[in-house]
Amino acid sequence: MKIPFNKPLIVEDEFDNLKKVFENDRFAGNGDFSKKCNKVLENKIGCAKSIVTSSCTDALEMTSLLTMIDPDDEVIMPSFTFVSTASAFELRRAKIVWCDIRPDTKNIDENKIEELITSKTKAIVVVHYAGVACEMDTIKAICKKHSIYLIEDAAQSIDCYYKGKHLGSIGDLGTLSFHETKNIHCGEGGALLVNNSSMIQKAEFIRDKGTNRIQFLNKKVDKYTWHELGSSYLMSELQAAFLYSQLKVSEDINKNRLKSWNLYYKLLSKFLPKEKLPQIPKECTHNAHIFYILVDNEDVRENLIKYLSEKGILAIFHYIPLHQAPYWKDKYKNINLPITEKVSKTIIRLPLFYGIKENEIRYIVDSIHHFFDK
Ligand SMILES: Cc1ncc(COP(=O)(O)O)c(C=O)c1O
Repeated sequence: MKIPFNKPLIVEDEFDNLKKVFENDRFAGNGDFSKKCNKVLENKIGCAKSIVTSSCTDALEMTSLLTMIDPDDEVIMPSFTFVSTASAFELRRAKIVWCDIRPDTKNIDENKIEELITSKTKAIVVVHYAGVACEMDTIKAICKKHSIYLIEDAAQSIDCYYKGKHLGSIGDLGTLSFHETKNIHCGEGGALLVNNSSMIQKAEFIRDKGTNRIQFLNKKVDKYTWHELGSSYLMSELQAAFLYSQLKVSEDINKNRLKSWNLYYKLLSKFLPKEKLPQIPKECTHNAHIFYILVDNEDVRENLIKYLSEKGILAIFHYIPLHQAPYWKDKYKNINLPITEKVSKTIIRLPLFYGIKENEIRYIVDSIHHFFDK
């Protein structure tokens, strides 16, 4: 048996929608399909404004421009994350302040944030790992108390909730990814979610190279010009047409993934303790973006990945902590993030995609069982 780690999702009508783009003869951004995608996202998420972008990385860069991050500012975030969470702020030359994660959710540890706050702290960026929410009530209260922006990197979190609120709708700003590795996608794509409505106009200018082109298109001004520091963050109509097909059915897709996730959990919990499996706090509803297990150390992980690969199963590790990446490691000294470092060395992600078969999951779990029984 050969089981890939991921299979990019294809639903039925991507081609039909792409054909409509050709028929409309309009391919650039902010066309009909982009507008439709934004409407679906606004209704689903309850944000004041959704702006589809060509990646989540773009949306994160927009958050750093919108919050006017500059070299005097400090931004707190986890080191156990994808590079874009940090690079968006590093591009503005802010100081990144790393916070350790919780051993259960692998999310930023809300109890370790306040000790990192200084008079220079401008924003906290949380990452909802695997679509499981951070402890948002606590973090939001910290941001309010210290007048700090709250940004949610919800790259993996379509259809994920915290106490009934969709992730990305709780902070000032949120971001989603529609990269082909995500539950729904358009190859490369993302969205900026604006919850603080005073930021909407500026966000629209930033997306359009910093110009007020949107006002020109809406016939509010007779010519458009440069107002803000921005860039070209628009999603093209081709991407939006593809994404729209998938957005319409995302809940069904995620239900299918959750069935597979639950089967993994049921079978693995027969021989692995709870701490080695994903732990979902009761206030969180997730989308089965990732199924992972933890092993005792890096050697066990390497051997297990090799063993599974010999069985035709592609299992992979995840983030290398950013504070240990070549770009960062000589920048700041004495960074002590024990949970981040331990999780990074011991986590393994198992194959999970829409349509993975029950017998494939049973085969993967049996193989893991044999490995530990050897
Ligand atoms: C937490 C997180 N943030 C940001 C990104 C970047 O997303 P994109 O590839 O859409 O730019 C990813 C991508 O995997 C991610 O996992």
